[in-house]
Amino acid sequence: MKGIVLAGGSGSRLYPMTAAVTKQLLPIYDKPMIYYPIATLMLAGVRDILLITTPKDMERYVDLLGDGARWGLNIQYAAQREPNGIAQAYVIGRDFVGNAPSALILGDNLFFGNGLSERLTHAAGIRRGAHIFACRVEDPERYGVIELDPSGQPLAIVEKPRAPKSNWAVTGLYFYDRRAPELVRELKPSARGELEISDLNALYLRAGELSVERLGRGFAWLDTGTPDSLIAAGQFVCTLETRQGMKIACLEEIALAQGFIDSDAFARLAAAAPPNFYGRYLKAFLADLEVAGRPPPLRAVVA
Ligand code: G1P
Repeated sequence: MKGIVLAGGSGSRLYPMTAAVTKQLLPIYDKPMIYYPIATLMLAGVRDILLITTPKDMERYVDLLGDGARWGLNIQYAAQREPNGIAQAYVIGRDFVGNAPSALILGDNLFFGNGLSERLTHAAGIRRGAHIFACRVEDPERYGVIELDPSGQPLAIVEKPRAPKSNWAVTGLYFYDRRAPELVRELKPSARGELEISDLNALYLRAGELSVERLGRGFAWLDTGTPDSLIAAGQFVCTLETRQGMKIACLEEIALAQGFIDSDAFARLAAAAPPNFYGRYLKAFLADLEVAGRPPPLRAVVA
């Protein structure tokens, strides 16, 4: 399965924070925002990742992530010259995706919860149709909203409805079979001039091939589109990490737990990290590992 992280956009809702720094590189507590969606893809078992960003910001991501090899990933880059909608990721990423199934995640979405890793792995097994996640929110009009029948089957998806028919927002994480790049060709720009991801999902829905998984209590889905939600996400991560002494979206830790790198490679990363809170965390993790003699199961985890 291929993965796409979409990290375009002008971040105008966060101006002036984003005047010189692109939104997805702003910190969520102790690491750049982009670490969280990358961690989510890694937990789904995805190693081939295309990061789509603006031409202006691409170099910064390359500085941060490189080719991803240190985490056992293969990260490539592509430019979105105009922000023409989320589904445009499949126009830009057509060659990268090829004939493979794929996962698409928005660069500002953060997922957390016990059992998330299993759910992601299951979703990544998709070979036919589309699989999306829905979360209950208080302000559904800000999102793609899904209407469900009493048995949880999807009836309709509407992008940013004025009068939402439910409180179930579609999260920014989508799993598609290999037809996604083809189906995107059928989409027309919406009234706001964008290729809407909700329209792609609606195509799968009309074909009876959209499954919707609700993330209920015990899961956190946070977005970071406003100053308030940005700081709320940072506080959430800070609270959990400080209380538990376990990091959320530590890419080195996930790479090891997923078997993308071995413990020797992890040891090299720990040795190369600066002697700050992050380096100390990696070194403590390595010490635990040496005692246990094997990678621990994904700690409470992550993303
Ligand atoms: C986008 C999607 C929307 C989805 C949301 C999740 O909205 O269009 O369907 O619910 O991401 O974060 P945007 O962030 O572009 O407003």
